Amino acid sequence: MKNYRIALDGPSGAGKSTIAKRLSAELGFVYVDTGAMYRTIGLFCLKNNIDVNDEDKVCSVLEQIKIELKYVEGEQRILLNGTDVSKEIRMNEVSMAASKVSAYKGVRSYLLNAQRDVAKSQSVIMDGRDIGTVVLPDAEIKIFIVGDATVRAKRRHNELLEKGQNISFQEVLEDIITRDHNDTNRAESPLRQADDAILLDTTYKNFEQAYNSVLEIVKSKML
Ligand code: DC
Repeated sequence: MKNYRIALDGPSGAGKSTIAKRLSAELGFVYVDTGAMYRTIGLFCLKNNIDVNDEDKVCSVLEQIKIELKYVEGEQRILLNGTDVSKEIRMNEVSMAASKVSAYKGVRSYLLNAQRDVAKSQSVIMDGRDIGTVVLPDAEIKIFIVGDATVRAKRRHNELLEKGQNISFQEVLEDIITRDHNDTNRAESPLRQADDAILLDTTYKNFEQAYNSVLEIVKSKML
């Protein structure tokens, strides 16, 4: 069978990762969460007192960071220098650190080859910000998922509460707005809809509806 590459891009909280996980299980494709890679670099910096605002410093420690992706029962696990950090990278402070370090050219090129490599020999669903524009510009299927910031913040807030993190809605909303701004306005691979990506707005859709819309797009492109 032909290999397919599905690029799912969009801002934080639009539903990309939940959709991608279910889609990967349904289609049997490998799911690659590229945000987790940026989060892992952000986490390394936080743990080692590296100032994430200092581009030169962050880029100088990249060679000390070994990131591995593993798949356990279809779930992506991410290892930082051999330790599974899949849970830790979801902490709210790591989100902001990831957004900061992801603006640096050195960081982006450090991760680019690894991201392209996974898609070389197998069908993948890759989610991120620049998959359709930079990482896999010739992906067969590209979807750009957006949603109102308040609705996205509500979803993210619920997720964090479920994970036991004590944080106010207001704080999550402000973080989302700041991250949207950082991700969209950076010079390197900003968050942008690829010309050939299909736009999907999930503001007024629940998960099932959003998922079904994505599935419909994917099936129409795989025929
Ligand atoms: O999808 P996420 O929230 O886990 O991503 C964390 C940060 O990483 C996000 O603020 C922007 C950055 N990112 C990126 O710049 N490019 C990607 N392909 C994926 C994520």
